[in-house]
Amino acid sequence: MRHFLTLDDFSRDEILEMINLAREIKSEAKAKIYKPYLKDQILAMIFEKSSTRTRVSFEVGMHQLGGKGMFLSANDLQIGRGEPIKDTARVISSMTDMAMLRVNKHETLEEFAKFSKVPVINGLSDKFHPVQLMADYLTMLEFSSGEKVAYVGDGNNITHSWLMLASKLGFELRIATPKGYEPDAQILEKAMQNAKISGAKIYLTEDIKEAVSGADVVTTDTWVSMGQEAEKDRRIKDFEGFCVDENLMKLAKNGAIFLHCLPAYRGYEVSEAVFEAHADEIFAEAENRLHAQKGVMVWLDKNRK
Ligand code: CP
Ligand code: NVA
Repeated sequence: MRHFLTLDDFSRDEILEMINLAREIKSEAKAKIYKPYLKDQILAMIFEKSSTRTRVSFEVGMHQLGGKGMFLSANDLQIGRGEPIKDTARVISSMTDMAMLRVNKHETLEEFAKFSKVPVINGLSDKFHPVQLMADYLTMLEFSSGEKVAYVGDGNNITHSWLMLASKLGFELRIATPKGYEPDAQILEKAMQNAKISGAKIYLTEDIKEAVSGADVVTTDTWVSMGQEAEKDRRIKDFEGFCVDENLMKLAKNGAIFLHCLPAYRGYEVSEAVFEAHADEIFAEAENRLHAQKGVMVWLDKNRK
């Protein structure tokens, strides 16, 4: 049985198998064909943090696959009153077929997965957001002819997942962050090791123009992730000059796309004009959460022992 906690746990071929499954199931869904790939299965969906896309896409996805998503707020579960994760995992996995968790600490996911009898999916942790990157890659395949990616902003869970995706699949990723906001050193080191095998080119810089010049895909994320609200004022100051605006986008390749995992904060990490000029791909990316996650869930189901 496999868990989907980080893309680093999967080979290039496995990631592409999930993407291909997603594409196949998406084209069926577009023809209003909903095959019951996960008939009568229940996905437990545990949230320690807010969500719009993750909750809706998993719940709708399970319904369309012939199963059901069960929303569980961590505050309402006994976890909120101190029941250990390992007990919660054993109980929930004895009654459901798969579990998706959005957690404050990645270690919570690892602990849940260790005691779970069913596959566990990361729906965002402080370290990674792998299901988002599956949707992002699907969107790149649909909208972009090239795979040179520039990420501008905070070295956070989204950046870490870009590092894993690029280093596994072997594409070029340039990351521009302000000093002190670089990606986690261990995750970067792991990506560099993967890149030796895949041929990925990974660069870090503080120069946003250098990162974006000639890029096929430009992307960013909020400067203030969930849980960092107390640092908001300091972060806004430290990220000055890191907004993806029209002038910066002009340096990217002609016809470059812009992606954002959302929610977006206009006037901070992205200008209103760039956001609206690229709304087509941004909202296709959001919709692709639904399709990409179906690929992941059906793959995990096929690969359970
Ligand atoms: N991108 C993303 O995960 O969105 P939500 O926080 O709304 O789920
Ligand atoms: N980095 C953001 C991603 C939100 C989808 C956060 O963790 O809040």
